[in-house]
Amino acid sequence: MLSHLLHREGVESVLLENRSRDYIESRIRAGLIEQWATDLLAETGVGERMRREAMFHNGIHFCFADALHYINFRDLVGKGITIYGQQEVVKDLVARRLADGGQILFEVDDVSVHDFEGAAPKIRFRHEGRAQDLACDFIGGCDGFHGICRPSIPEAALTLYDREYPFGWVGILADSPPPEQELIYAWHPRGFALYTMRSPSLARLYVQCAPDEDIENWPDARIWKELHARLGGTRALVEGPLMQKAVTAMRSFVVEPMQRGRLFLAGDAAHIVPPTGAKGMNLAIADVVLLSRAITAFYRSGRSDLLECYSATCLRRVWKAQRFSWWMTQMLHLHPTHNAFDRKRQLAELAYVVSSQAAATSLAENYVGLPLEM
Ligand code: DHB
Repeated sequence: MLSHLLHREGVESVLLENRSRDYIESRIRAGLIEQWATDLLAETGVGERMRREAMFHNGIHFCFADALHYINFRDLVGKGITIYGQQEVVKDLVARRLADGGQILFEVDDVSVHDFEGAAPKIRFRHEGRAQDLACDFIGGCDGFHGICRPSIPEAALTLYDREYPFGWVGILADSPPPEQELIYAWHPRGFALYTMRSPSLARLYVQCAPDEDIENWPDARIWKELHARLGGTRALVEGPLMQKAVTAMRSFVVEPMQRGRLFLAGDAAHIVPPTGAKGMNLAIADVVLLSRAITAFYRSGRSDLLECYSATCLRRVWKAQRFSWWMTQMLHLHPTHNAFDRKRQLAELAYVVSSQAAATSLAENYVGLPLEM
């Protein structure tokens, strides 16, 4: 997305990708795009297939105490959300970059970043067996939580904020029809469950599990049993063949600042949210919109103020999304140290959210995505 946005402003970039094209295009991640990001993809010429294949939702359901409650974002804040797999966005962006003559080097190895504290940074890497040095003006560290960019910044220059959760999610993709048109977030004494989808016949389902769960402990029959118990009370789930099964870990993480010299961190390299609310990709897109604006301003008018305040601008939004993702997570999950009081409190919070217009509006405003510079 960064490369695409820069190209539209006439700024050249080279994209170095550690994995193969096939890997990044097929790896299943979340599939929820905030309203402003949906609009941005469409406005910048990468929304064609999304417009045809995505599902556009006006709200979400909460399921608790054997009842289903709907929150209508469209009525509350005039916006909605788009259900379209993250890897579909990746496919559309890769195709667009290549069609526009963009340079993407796949399966790049031994990447290291150098001299970014000065005006002439360098990236060293190996591609197709050949060691290369790439001289550049700026480095976008969009290389994920386990990438090399963040650890290349001196440790003493960074402050890390971190929280791990004592649970994870088992996620499946199942060839089964949706029990509802829109998402269901379920609170249940057995633990959280989420029903989402990828198409009208393809369900994406999640159930809360142990944090370090071995997927071998979750044979298909156990997954369906839990899904029926946690989600099925209000809607009949139809079982279908499982096409994918994996465990998602839960963590909150932020690094401050998100920049050092001419190295700028974006997305998971700088922050991780727990998946509840699906903010990860949306935050990454917001970062690179701000970064592309700052880089463009630098070339257009020699301004470096936007580059200097990149981290501060991103972090204002990042922390609000952190707060929201944490809030959704703590409200919906069974926590090993929680007692009966905490469970009653969670139920009261859910009842408040679905019955108070003020509370539902607050949820809606965050869920559909806060403005880019809030
Ligand atoms: C999806 C994932 C989430 O974590 C979420 O909160 C909503 C939707 C998804 O994969 O579609």
